[in-house]
Amino acid sequence: MKTRTPISIYILVTVGLTIMAFEMFAHNSGYFSSPFFWGLMLIAIILLLIMNSIGDLIENQNFSKLSAEQKVQYLKEKNTPYFKKLWNSAFKKQSATEEKDILIDHGFDGITELDNSLPKWWIGLFWFGCIFCAVYLTAFAFTDYAHPDAELNTETKQMLASITEFEKTAPQVTLENAKYSADNITEGQELFKTNCATCHGEGGKGGIGPNLTDSHWINVKQKSLFKNVIWMLENGSPNNPTMRPLIKEGVITGRDAEKIAAYIYHINQEIPPISLAQGGAAPQGEVVIWENGNN
Ligand code: HEC
Repeated sequence: MKTRTPISIYILVTVGLTIMAFEMFAHNSGYFSSPFFWGLMLIAIILLLIMNSIGDLIENQNFSKLSAEQKVQYLKEKNTPYFKKLWNSAFKKQSATEEKDILIDHGFDGITELDNSLPKWWIGLFWFGCIFCAVYLTAFAFTDYAHPDAELNTETKQMLASITEFEKTAPQVTLENAKYSADNITEGQELFKTNCATCHGEGGKGGIGPNLTDSHWINVKQKSLFKNVIWMLENGSPNNPTMRPLIKEGVITGRDAEKIAAYIYHINQEIPPISLAQGGAAPQGEVVIWENGNN
């Protein structure tokens, strides 16, 4: 009579396989905190315990039918720890008499070989591989599991959501904490298109509002060009109400002013101005040489 695999191993394997299946089919659902998942685990473990009790009954029944010698042999085997048994079975050596039973003799070429049965760990691994393959393929075919593009998509969404959340709560840009960064230019350009281009023209070439690409300025309130733009956005123009205090009015929020100012620094200092001949508005105000450009 064979000894049985301990219940703890069954429970461990079941829990492992259940987590594996959930990980593949529902990895984004937060299953670890769902009552359904834990309920399922509980039911599985209870079923295993019931199965184990039935196993105990059958074992007792069979045990009583054994001869005294078989009983001693069985008890000895039963008292060997499970993993030791597994280890022993992996490196089992047959005795000479046992070898005789499993010897295959080719006869014609004189070669003999042992018809060993496969070790338990090998068979276990084989079946695990088969089950894993089936579950993996099903998950891959019918869900988003292991699709890199889908993973990238959800991660990008999460990241964008957290950026929006951050920007909502991020402190308003002020003259004191505004910082220039070249990384902001591209975003600043988009913000300029939606908020400023109606008056200041495409690329800041000027229109209702002055040309922002040339070296002439009407309002010089700060020593640096970058801060001067922030000042204008905060306070608006003191001489012309058409240029409104967009930060104070809540039109420009969060760190957007910083981005727009970086873009204006870029079109004013880093690329050639859009002159009158190129369709830009005529210079207004005085020529300003900024003390320190972007800080
Ligand atoms: C409704 C039209 C309008 C909009 C929209 C507008 N502006 Fe203006 N802006 C003006 C006018 C008009 C002036 C000139 C003010 C003056 O004469 O003092 C001006 C002046 C400025 C100046 C100072 C230029 C100088 O030579 O002194 C800056 C910088 C500026 N605007 C940036 C912006 C930015 C950035 C935005 C978008 C967030 C924006 N403006 C949106 C009309 C506008």
